[in-house]
Amino acid sequence: MIEIKGTTKVCGLIGNPVEHSLSPMIHNELSRMSNSDMVYVTFKVEKDILTAVGGAFELNVNGMNVTVPWKEKVICTLCETDKLAGDIGAVNTLVRTERGFKGYNTDIIGFKRQLEDDGIDIKGNTVVLLGAGGAARAIAFLLVNEGAGCVYILNRTVEKAQRIADDIRTSLGRDVIKVLPISEYKSIAESEYIVVQTTNVGLHPNIDDTVISDKEFYDNARCGVDIIYNPFNTKFMKLMRLSGKPSYNGLKMLLYQAVAAYELWNDTKISRSVTDEVYKMLCRHFEEV
Ligand code: ATR
Repeated sequence: MIEIKGTTKVCGLIGNPVEHSLSPMIHNELSRMSNSDMVYVTFKVEKDILTAVGGAFELNVNGMNVTVPWKEKVICTLCETDKLAGDIGAVNTLVRTERGFKGYNTDIIGFKRQLEDDGIDIKGNTVVLLGAGGAARAIAFLLVNEGAGCVYILNRTVEKAQRIADDIRTSLGRDVIKVLPISEYKSIAESEYIVVQTTNVGLHPNIDDTVISDKEFYDNARCGVDIIYNPFNTKFMKLMRLSGKPSYNGLKMLLYQAVAAYELWNDTKISRSVTDEVYKMLCRHFEEV
């Protein structure tokens, strides 16, 4: 247990809903393991993000995570936004400064660390991104920023994918995105690609669903990352493995975005061994549910 004292720094999660978030478990464990005088709680914010962020600053809250539905709307409450987070248009971490909170997107830092960890090299390679929601948007920015050779965005609603492609061309000045409806995956020209699955399809309880079930699509893939972590092994991951390809869930991204936020709030570096211990704790959690 963390001992709460007069000096204990408070960090928390703003969103709605927040009740089922794993962030309190992760951050309080990081705090306990690194002997830090910090506690992490949830703040359900239903209506007024401006008052919530202003109030948190006045109450000397040290830092915050931000989740649905506030990741975009929170930006106008900040004194400063990190460049990539600003380009993406979504912030999930607020860091206290003298003038107010500065916004970062550690989801994307977390995803980058996960790719490095799993030995997935983006530079010069073709990536197929399934989905064009908030998560896909952030990941598409990262992929283009990291020098992907070509990024296909496949989405049920093509206009949303096109909007991401247009925004990235304007912000980053690289024109490497091709947009397709999911049903037209066979027109992908390259014969080998990395796949990143960002749709909600396959999420608990619909564990037998996936947006593409054709074996040929998986045969042509080099590897696959699903950002879903509940279930631990998604249908997408199972199909990838049936084709003999490595596949990964989104649990590391979840953990690494938290580690990156924790490091920003506490101006520290979490060691590999602590990160690995918290990862094992999360794996045990999913074995039990
Ligand atoms: P997130 O923030 O997690 O990315 P989101 O912004 O709600 O969530 O995006 C959900 C993604 O899953 C979208 O790409 C959505 O497709 P549409 O843009 O066409 O809505 C995709 N998605 C959700 N349900 C789907 C389904 N049944 N079939 C195909 N795609 C689906």
